[in-house]
Parts: sequence; C-alpha cells; structure tokens
Amino acid sequence: MTVKLGRIFSGIQPSAATPHLGNYIGAIKPWTQYQHITPLKPILSVVDLHALTNPSLTPSKLRDNIFQMTASLLACGLDPQKCVIFQQSMVPHHSELTWILTCGCTLNRLQSLHAWREKVKKLGKGAGLPLGVLMYPVLMASDILLYQTNTVPVGEDQVQHIELARDIASGFNQKFNSHVFNIPEKLIQEESNRIKSLRDPLAKMSKSDDNQFSYVTILDEPDQIQAKVRKAVTDSNPVLTFDSEARPGVSNLINILASLKNQSISDSLQEIESMNTLQLKNLVSDTIVEHLNPIRKEHHLLMNDKAYLCTLLEDGRKEAAEIAERTLKIVKQTIGLI
Ligand code: TYM
Repeated sequence: MTVKLGRIFSGIQPSAATPHLGNYIGAIKPWTQYQHITPLKPILSVVDLHALTNPSLTPSKLRDNIFQMTASLLACGLDPQKCVIFQQSMVPHHSELTWILTCGCTLNRLQSLHAWREKVKKLGKGAGLPLGVLMYPVLMASDILLYQTNTVPVGEDQVQHIELARDIASGFNQKFNSHVFNIPEKLIQEESNRIKSLRDPLAKMSKSDDNQFSYVTILDEPDQIQAKVRKAVTDSNPVLTFDSEARPGVSNLINILASLKNQSISDSLQEIESMNTLQLKNLVSDTIVEHLNPIRKEHHLLMNDKAYLCTLLEDGRKEAAEIAERTLKIVKQTIGLI
C-alpha cells in the first residue's frame, strides 16, 4: 500500500458477542493487514461505552461480550505485538474528553446526523430517547482525537461521524488558536467490502437485525452457515452476473466470495461462469466455512484462557492510556483547566 496511514484508530462495539461477516470483511480483515504495514501500532478498541446505548444489553451479557469480542479480534488475526487492543472504559480519558468536546458542539449539529434521525424515525419522538444516543458521535470523536489519529478505517455507515470528529477538531484548534488535535482522515473500504443482509440485500448486514438468518457470525457452525446462505434472498435470473443495484442479492454473495478469496470481482465471475444460483450458494457457504473454521477454533481456545485476555487488555490499557493522558493534558492546559 502506498498511502501514508500514520496513526490508525478504529473501534467495534461489543453490542453483540461476536462480529458478523460484515464487520469481519469490512473492518477486522483490513485491520489485520494494516498492522503489518504501519510503523505506528494501529489502536483498536472494544468500545464498550458505546454499547451502553443499547438498552437491552444486561450487565452480565455486556461483561461476556467484551471478552468474546476481544477473543474474536485475536482469533481473526490481530496480533497484540503489532497493534494495541484495549477496552474503551478502562481508559477514563474518553469520557472526560467527551464532556469537554460536548461543550463545543451544538444540538443542531448532532440532531442533523443520519444515525440519530434514523433512530428517531424508527423509535418515535427524539425527546424520549436516551441522551447517549444523541451524544454517541461526540464520544466517537473523543476516541479518535485522543490518539492524534491520522487514519480511521471504517465502513460507510460511519462516514458522518468521522466528518463530525474532523469538524470538532478543527473548531477546537481554531477557537484556541492551536494545533492540539490532528485532523483525522477516513479510510472507507471499497464497495466490495460493504456486506448486505442475507434476507434483505438492500440493507447492510447488521448485528441489531432481529432475523438471525440475515447475518452470519464468525462463530457460526458449518450447518448454520449452510442454512443461512441457502436461504439468502437472490432473484429468478439463472445466469450469474454482478450488478449491485439491479441484482443486490446475487452481487452480495459474489462480493463475499471475492473478499474471502482475496479475488477481484471479475476473477470470481470467471470462477462461477458455468454455475447456477444454487451452486454459487454452495460455493459461498463452503468458502465461508473454510475461512471461519480456524477462527472459531482459535476463539474457543482463547475463551478458555480468560487470564490471558485480562492480561492483554491490561497491557492495551497501559499503552492506550499513556497516549490519551498526553493529549488530555494538553487539552486541559489549552482550555484553562490546568
Ligand atoms: P460497529 O461496531 O457497528 O462496526 C464495526 C465496524 O464494522 C463496520 N461494519 C460493516 N462493514 C461492512 N459491511 C457491513 N455490513 C458492516 N457493518 C458494520 C463498521 O462500519 C465499523 O467500521 N461507532 C462505531 C464504533 C466506533 C468507532 C470509534 C469506529 C466507536 N468509536 C472510533 C472508528 C473510530 C460502530 O458502531 O461500529
């Protein structure tokens, strides 16, 4: 890769125990590649404070999800020697900076963001929603700005949040006539990394979807994967072609195949040239099973060694907190708290 990535920061919510195939292909798999090509360790956070915006998450489930998500990141190939993996709430600077940044952010700006407007549309009047849902993007800005991040690799659903982080950073720098914060750049995955729901290929694959047949998690057993892919919504055209708009279901399956095999779409199209839809589904589920088998086994081993996971999170906390502490101190000096 020729682009200069500098300091990378990204995060994943432990709102579900394990990532789904969209998180894996769109975020975690690219992270495993960045860790080998950047001199500065990428910083990756299990963003548990963000998960608090999910009202149905019980304390025991959240506690378990944090371990499961950490084990998932390692099982997918993130190497704690090459990147910093930490639990967000273990570094209290995130909450502290959030308050400071909130004081420089307007209600109008937060209410204009898609994610908020969609929640309001889905759940009814905004006034009845927890404030955390509205302020969530400011917490995300703090995550990014605390580490003087240059590059934030995310899926397209997060673009507006990165733009907000940039605006908050430059607004702060201007107000205090300083260069306290780096202005982060987003790194959006290619279209082929946007994985859609298996039941509704116009929507993204999402862990909050009630229908478990809409997503494959990285820990699904082979028979679950086969059943889910077999039921994936496609269309009645027997000839396999790639067109995300006209044929979203078939194209989503081809995307998954190409991403997992590290192939271009045209290479995948060549491979499936003489197949029908059922044969494509079989090939896709076999490819997913083959790819996820070692990850599932490794995850199982890691979950049997909680002491190791605790040590790893503690090491990550120390590395992250050292950087966060430096930034927060400068912020406090700049605004007159110290
Ligand atoms: P989260 O936990 O929803 O998702 C983690 C990452 O996975 C990407 N993603 C997808 N990519 C492709 N296809 C899909 N179907 C798909 N679904 C999810 C997301 O874009 C994301 O990159 N707010 C963030 C977490 C966060 C964060 C941060 C990210 C908190 N602080 C700071 C970057 C920097 C979130 O909810 O991601």
